[in-house]
Amino acid sequence: MTEPVPPAPDLTLFLDLAPDTGSMGSEVREGLTDRPKWLPSKYFYDATGSALFDRICELEEYYPTRTEQAIIDGMLPELARLLEGDVVLLEYGSGSSQKTRQLLERLPGIRTYVPIDISKEHLLTAGRALQMEFPHLEVLPVCADYGQQIPFPWHEPHLSHLRHARHMVFFPGSTIGNFTHPEAIAFLGRMASLVGPGGFVLLGADLVKETGVLEAAYDDAEGVTAAFNRNILTHINRQLGSDFDPQGFRHRVFYDTVADRIEMHLVADRAMEVHFPDGPIVLDVGESIRTEYSHKYRIEEVAAMADEAGLDVARVWTDERQWFSVQLLQAR
Ligand code: AVJ
Repeated sequence: MTEPVPPAPDLTLFLDLAPDTGSMGSEVREGLTDRPKWLPSKYFYDATGSALFDRICELEEYYPTRTEQAIIDGMLPELARLLEGDVVLLEYGSGSSQKTRQLLERLPGIRTYVPIDISKEHLLTAGRALQMEFPHLEVLPVCADYGQQIPFPWHEPHLSHLRHARHMVFFPGSTIGNFTHPEAIAFLGRMASLVGPGGFVLLGADLVKETGVLEAAYDDAEGVTAAFNRNILTHINRQLGSDFDPQGFRHRVFYDTVADRIEMHLVADRAMEVHFPDGPIVLDVGESIRTEYSHKYRIEEVAAMADEAGLDVARVWTDERQWFSVQLLQAR
């Protein structure tokens, strides 16, 4: 039996820089009126979607999470030596901050942790739990869409102590793979300017491998990924008042060996008209909505993208099979 959890101390700082809810409606309409249709992958992650994603991470077929975790576990002593002095750790898409605990426990220089996430409740719950576990750590949650430039108010007097410490952005899980290459370069460039010259980006990047392994990772036997995929429609229905029938769509996954990416789609099994408060969306039978890209990389490719973004590769760690990589990038 576990002890009841005492009430959490309030976080001293919290920055709410979240975009207004109106932006979801216009982004969804933009994708659904395009040809072919698509939806932004960030809308997978309501409470149900985040829980389904946590289950995906436990699946036999889904190798990235456990491979990355093992790489990080092995490299932390070396990273601790590379990072001298005080560090402000920022994490993009922190979710439940599960992977971060290893870093906070084993990198003694981290003074401040800035988890950044779009899901406010998840962010605050995780932030409070971490604040209790690490009482000497300054936890400063920021609610923001990290796909956008985040206007961090570092100049404000109560935050000015953060300006001069070394900054490191942690972006694990190969979430970078959701972006196309030009988007990824722009995104890495924003991280580079955020951390400043000499600052670091610790990036998880999934590597090119056999098609069968990749497709199985996104189309598991239990159907958890299929449920995760369909849940994007449930989330949109709830937020925007639409009437998608998620069961009317088939989960479709394929690896594109030219673009080196997994594509995840929802395919309509009949013609349908979906109602939204601002007008209907029509789908033909067999019409597909692309819900995700998950790009896979060669190690040199990550270095080339980083270089274009003003970052040098300081160190690359991989597993024995070279299935996944964790890369320490340093801003010029
Ligand atoms: C969280 C974006 C890294 O692309 O592997 C897992 C999401 N989608 N299974 C990935 C995901 C389907 C995941 N990322």
